[in-house]
Amino acid sequence: MSEQLKSMEKLVGLCKRKGFIFQSSEVYGGINSCYDYGPLGVELKKNIKDLWWKSMVYERNDVEGLDASILMHPRVWEASGHVDGFTDPMIDCRETKNRYREDQLSVYVPKSGEGLMYAFPEGAPESVAKKLKKARVSEEEFDVKSLSDIDVSAYENVVGPDTKKAGTLTEPRMFNLMFKTFMGPVESDANIVFLRPETAQGIYVNFHNVREASRQKLPFGIAQIGKAFRNEITPGNFIFRMREFEQMEMQYFVKPGSDDEFFEYWKAERLKWYERLGINHDKLKFHAHGDGELAHYAKAAFDIEYEFPFGWSEIEGIHNRTDFDLGRHQEYSRKNLKYFDQEAGEKYVPYVVETSTGVDRLMLTTLADAYAEEEERVVMRFKPTIAPMKAAVFPLVKKDGMPEVAHEIVDNLRKHFRVFYDESGAVGRRYRRQDEVGTPYCFTVDTQTLEDGTITVRERDSMAQERISKDQAMNYLLDRVI
Ligand code: GAP
Repeated sequence: MSEQLKSMEKLVGLCKRKGFIFQSSEVYGGINSCYDYGPLGVELKKNIKDLWWKSMVYERNDVEGLDASILMHPRVWEASGHVDGFTDPMIDCRETKNRYREDQLSVYVPKSGEGLMYAFPEGAPESVAKKLKKARVSEEEFDVKSLSDIDVSAYENVVGPDTKKAGTLTEPRMFNLMFKTFMGPVESDANIVFLRPETAQGIYVNFHNVREASRQKLPFGIAQIGKAFRNEITPGNFIFRMREFEQMEMQYFVKPGSDDEFFEYWKAERLKWYERLGINHDKLKFHAHGDGELAHYAKAAFDIEYEFPFGWSEIEGIHNRTDFDLGRHQEYSRKNLKYFDQEAGEKYVPYVVETSTGVDRLMLTTLADAYAEEEERVVMRFKPTIAPMKAAVFPLVKKDGMPEVAHEIVDNLRKHFRVFYDESGAVGRRYRRQDEVGTPYCFTVDTQTLEDGTITVRERDSMAQERISKDQAMNYLLDRVI
C-alpha cells in the first residue's frame, strides 16, 4: 500500500468511480454494511477466488471441493455451539441510540481514581482528545483500560464515545450474531432456520459423503467458497466488517496427535499464498490468539493480519478445531462420524485444522495494497494474475483501418481474457484510465502496424514500451497474466 493512502476515503471514492464497489441500495440511501460489486469488482473478486481454488483444490491431491447449502438443519447450530456461544457483548447509548461492542471499547480512567472516565472505540483515542481539552484535563492524568475491566456499577461515571454526558451507557447484554428466518409459510419457533455464520459446518456434516465419494484417506481436506451472514453489532471500515460476506474455508481432517504438525504446515502454506496474491510481505504478520481470545471450538489459533490504513487487522484465521465439531455432530445427530484408519487398524473422530478467510477482506487487502499515487497518475499495482482487466487495446486514431485491426485483436483475446477496447481521447489519457484500474498491459495499433503487423505494448508499472507482432498478443498475455 502506498504511503499516500492514509485514510480509506480515496480508496472508497476510486472504488465507486471506477465500478469496483457500490453501497447496496444506494438510490434508497443505502443499507448499512452491505455492498455491491460492480463490473471491475466482480472480476477482481472472481480472480481472487480462482487463485485460492487453484492452490487449494487443483494443485493438490488431498483437497476436494464442496458447495453446501446456506440454510441447514437448525440442530447443526446447536451442535456447533453457535446457538449458545456465538455472541458478542453489546452496549447501547441511551442518548444517541448508538450501539457498541463492549470488547471494542477502551476507556480513559483517571489515575487519581476520582472523576469522569471517557470511553472511545478501540484504536481511535483522538475522538476523546477534544473532550479532555474541554474538561481541562490532560491525557497524562489517565490510564487506558478496556471497558470490560470497569465494573458496571461505575458506568454512571463513564462518558460514552459519542456523548458529552456521563451515565448514558447501558450494561452489556449478550447478543447472538446469527440471522434468523422461517422455513415455510408458518412463522413459528418450530420453523426457525439460521443463515449460516460460517461455511465450515456444511463441510463437517458432509465429511463422510465427500470422503466416500472421492475415496480419500486421512489426512485430506474439503474446500468451500460461499456466503456467510453475521448480524455484527459494529460493522464498518467499508467492506472490512459486513453483515453479508463471503468466506473461503478449508477443513483439513487429520489423525489426532498429528494436528500440531499440520497446524504449523497450514500456517506456513497460507502465509506463502499471499505472495501469489501479490501482497506486500511487510504488511502481513501473524497474531497468536491468547486464552481469552480463542473461539469456543479452538485449541490453538493464529490470525494473519494486514496493515490497513486503519491499522493491523485480521484477514484470515488458522484454527486447530480438534475433534470438537465432528464430535458434537456425532453426539447430536447420533450418526457415527468416526474414521476407520486401515493402516493403524483403529477408529477415531478426526481432528480438524481449518484455514478460513473472507473474500471481501481480501478484496480490501488487494485494493489497499495495490493503490499507489505517482506524480502524474494514480495506479493500481495489482498482480497481473488478479487484475480485473488483463489488457486494453487501442487504435491510435479512429481511422485508416486501425479500429478494425484493434477489434480483431480484441476478439481473439476475448476467447481467454477479460480485455477492454478504447478509442476515445488521447492515448496518454487512455493509459491513465487503465492505470487507475490496474490493467497491466495496453496494446496500441498505429501506422507501423499497418505496414509490418507489429503493435506497441505498454507495461503499467514501468510504463516501458516495446513492439511485438500483433499475432503474438495472445501468447504475450498467456505468459504473463495466468
Ligand atoms: N470458520 C471459522 C471462522 O468463521 P472467523 O475468524 O470468525 O472464523 C474467518 O472468520 C474469516 O472470515 C475472517 O478472518 C474474515 O476474513 C472473514 N470474516 C469474518 N467475519 C466477517 C465480517 N463480518 N465481514 C467480512 N469478513 C468477515
